[in-house]
Amino acid sequence: MTAPMIAIENLKKNYGETQALAGISFHVPKGQVVGFLGPNGAGKSTTMKILTGYIEPSAGSVQVGGINVEHDPVAARKRIGYLPESNPLYDEMMVQEYLEYCADMREIPRSERQSRIQGAVDRCGLGPVRHKDIAELSKGFRQRVGLAQAILHDPDLLILDEPTTGLDPNQVIEIRNLIKELGQEKTVLMSTHILPEVQATCSRVLIVSNGQVVADDAPEKLVESGGQIQVELCPRTDTAISGQDVREMLTGLPGVSDVVAAEPQEDGGQAYLLRIGETDPRRALFDAAVDAGLIIMRLEQQRVSLEDTFRRLTTKEG
Ligand SMILES: Nc1ncnc2c1ncn2[C@@H]1O[C@H](COP(=O)(O)OP(=O)(O)OP(=O)(O)O)[C@@H](O)[C@H]1O
Ligand SMILES: [Mg+2]
Repeated sequence: MTAPMIAIENLKKNYGETQALAGISFHVPKGQVVGFLGPNGAGKSTTMKILTGYIEPSAGSVQVGGINVEHDPVAARKRIGYLPESNPLYDEMMVQEYLEYCADMREIPRSERQSRIQGAVDRCGLGPVRHKDIAELSKGFRQRVGLAQAILHDPDLLILDEPTTGLDPNQVIEIRNLIKELGQEKTVLMSTHILPEVQATCSRVLIVSNGQVVADDAPEKLVESGGQIQVELCPRTDTAISGQDVREMLTGLPGVSDVVAAEPQEDGGQAYLLRIGETDPRRALFDAAVDAGLIIMRLEQQRVSLEDTFRRLTTKEG
């Protein structure tokens, strides 16, 4: 069996009195693109810094492609491309110079250096700014330079800490597309506060809160596990059915966990709010309404959004 790209076991980190990580565990198999979410201070950057060998954990273990990061940080870092939260660059260098400097740091053989740099420049769309000073670049191009240095040594794993923060909507889409493209051949762990980005880019979402993993699932699963239906029902002229009977009928539908009646409508209809779980009750609702002599005047399903799930899992009041 091949080792997972990331294997984190019971990771803990204290900064003095502050417990940043309270025991985080997760595995990421090769090829996955994982969104790493959590409120400010949840422990995302700390986890990433430990993964990339920049800081040491207080307890627990981290392996990258089977290599223990603490025991063999040099070998582990060869497998990893890292875009830190602050994207530290050397402003006084030209893009080309900076990438040459990074290639040196990465110990890329001289014979391969220019072709590797060319590859990263092409990939990240840096051609037009290659000979500009980094200080002159817009935020979007700075992020591209950060991504270029991260892929220079062709790592298997990309750790991207908020790669699209501070970008304008056009640049967000461009960087997102670049990450998507990179994700086709590399494993990616990417933190972000932009939730639609996760749905657009990632096949899996990890949510951390207070230094612990509180959700781990496909993005569509995290939004499908609930929601509500608003339905407005009106009895046919030949039907006499009590409000009580309608409520009982609605309560008995598969997937419905709660029924709340709203004010009666002017057109003689009565609106209800149905809280639903994973089962979709709409077909059963249609059949039951016809059987009971009720006309469905309006039906609207509202799925919970990833934002709802995020808030529920990361705030106390939920
Ligand atoms: N160098 C440090 N010294 C002391 N405390 C730190 C240090 N770095 C992080 N912390 C604390 O550790 C906790 C986790 O911080 P971390 O930066 O990992 O969060 P994050 O999830 O990346 O947040 P953000 O979304 O704001 O980037 C926070 O309480 C933070 O204040
Ligand atoms: Mg952070």
